[in-house]
Amino acid sequence: MLEQYTKYDYLFSNLRPNAIGGIKIFSRDDDFIIQQKYDAITDEEHGIWSRLFTKLINPLDRYACAEYINGLAALGLRQDKMPNFAELNPIIKEASGWELVPVAGFLDEYVFFELNANRKFPVTDIVRQSDRMDEKYSDGAIQNEDDYTPEPDVFHDVRGHVPMLMNKEYGDFLADVGILGHRILTDDEGLGPNLVAHNLKRLQNFAWWTYEFGIMEKQEGTDTLRKETNDMNHEIYGAGIMSSYAETLHIAACSKGENSYSEFFPYNIEEAVMTRFDYSEIQDRYFVIDSMDSLYKSFYDNQDLFWYKG
Ligand SMILES: [Fe+2]
Repeated sequence: MLEQYTKYDYLFSNLRPNAIGGIKIFSRDDDFIIQQKYDAITDEEHGIWSRLFTKLINPLDRYACAEYINGLAALGLRQDKMPNFAELNPIIKEASGWELVPVAGFLDEYVFFELNANRKFPVTDIVRQSDRMDEKYSDGAIQNEDDYTPEPDVFHDVRGHVPMLMNKEYGDFLADVGILGHRILTDDEGLGPNLVAHNLKRLQNFAWWTYEFGIMEKQEGTDTLRKETNDMNHEIYGAGIMSSYAETLHIAACSKGENSYSEFFPYNIEEAVMTRFDYSEIQDRYFVIDSMDSLYKSFYDNQDLFWYKG
């Protein structure tokens, strides 16, 4: 299903080759659910986690949204050790009904949305730049740096996404995105494979520009949660940004007018749904929501955007 060309692609703006290179993709016929072998995690891996985590402590405290900051505090992620999913799960489940499911790697959309629909969040157990990541891709190099990995790793999944999952409203929203994705893929409305693939891309675009790479207007009162006052006009809620030190600082530089590489556009769900993206290091645009509530409302009020009928 991934990157299937459809005759409706011309409707999108920002069409890109969208290549994700040689990433291994797991589908429902694969054994993709694994056990996290926590005791087997090497010092090297704990060290990489710690390095990445530590760099982001101050930038995220300063620029992340309230949902993230509160979630992170309640979750109690350790700075010096890789996360233990079995320990985190009761905490997340209690907060929003979600749980983490360790998986072997990048999942196809069918499996991903089906898990999300059931409040199961797939997390990989490999961290970028580790020997295990190198071994996994020993047959072909993938770009794999502190600030970017095309294959989502445990740092992106847990440091980026999981604190947000501690918020009940966000958790409900993400489950509803999963349910919608699953309905599109099972062709609930009998639209046929071309429109299924097209509508799936619409939902992927929405996910990309919101919970992966979304920012919002600065909210009243969030600074009381921070050690240092947020000196830009925006807050970050997208996990793809928050798991990258470089992209977090990039957002701040753009917001403050010190960098003009990326443009900030007021969020409009139709535009977000119809804009493709690529997996390059830094996005050339971001959509700015007014608040998390306005994002949720736009999603529930515009479900027809995901059921294009040709
Ligand atoms: Fe992600």
